Amino acid sequence: MRTPNDPIERVPDNKPTTPRAFRETDLDWVLALNRTVETELSPLTAPELMELVHAAFHATVAGQRYGFLIAFDQDASHASPNFLWFRQRHSRFVYVDRIAVSEDARGMGIARALYQDLFRKARAAGHDSIFCEINVDPPNPVSDTFHEQLGFTEVGQNRLTNGKSVRYMRKNIVESK
Ligand SMILES: CC(C)(COP(=O)(O)OP(=O)(O)OC[C@H]1O[C@@H](n2cnc3c(N)ncnc32)[C@H](O)[C@@H]1OP(=O)(O)O)[C@@H](O)C(=O)NCCC(=O)NCCS
Repeated sequence: MRTPNDPIERVPDNKPTTPRAFRETDLDWVLALNRTVETELSPLTAPELMELVHAAFHATVAGQRYGFLIAFDQDASHASPNFLWFRQRHSRFVYVDRIAVSEDARGMGIARALYQDLFRKARAAGHDSIFCEINVDPPNPVSDTFHEQLGFTEVGQNRLTNGKSVRYMRKNIVESK
């Protein structure tokens, strides 16, 4: 188990937290990581993951199999109830469909790096809002703290037909860097 005193900076590419674009060769490890966070996110098959990546505004991974992020803009052909909740209310936005970091690499700034990379790209494309949802039931207090620390604030709540309750979050990327 890696600890903060055993920094991941030692891995071969020497830039473990610099996000890069998702490649097809990332498929297996991203699916494996997703399997470990199905409660916080949702299950995903290989074809479903490739469909998300192809529809994405931004699909990135960080480091040596440490984390990934998939985000859509408002024009994506994506029908999840959470994405549609935002699309019914906003004409232009970026929505984070999923972000996860492997357990042994958490607490080292990887998710923050993935988000900051997304903020840069979204600003460059003229967006001002990043949206996402966080589970309320079952709760996800780590994600609550993580997103609030990044500057996200709650803009709504919803109970889904799958039994989950979620809170909807927004970050204004124009006001803050
Ligand atoms: C949420 C998650 C993506 C955070 O990834 P991470 O790489 O560990 O997060 P970071 O190291 O970038 O943390 C950034 C900040 O978030 C907060 N944070 C992260 N993990 C935390 C924890 N366990 N407890 C309290 N605060 C935490 C801290 O403020 C941290 O800043 P600091 O280290 O300067 O104090 C990760 O825990 C995860 O993959 N969880 C399972 C999947 C999930 O819940 N995804 C989100 C669904 S909405």
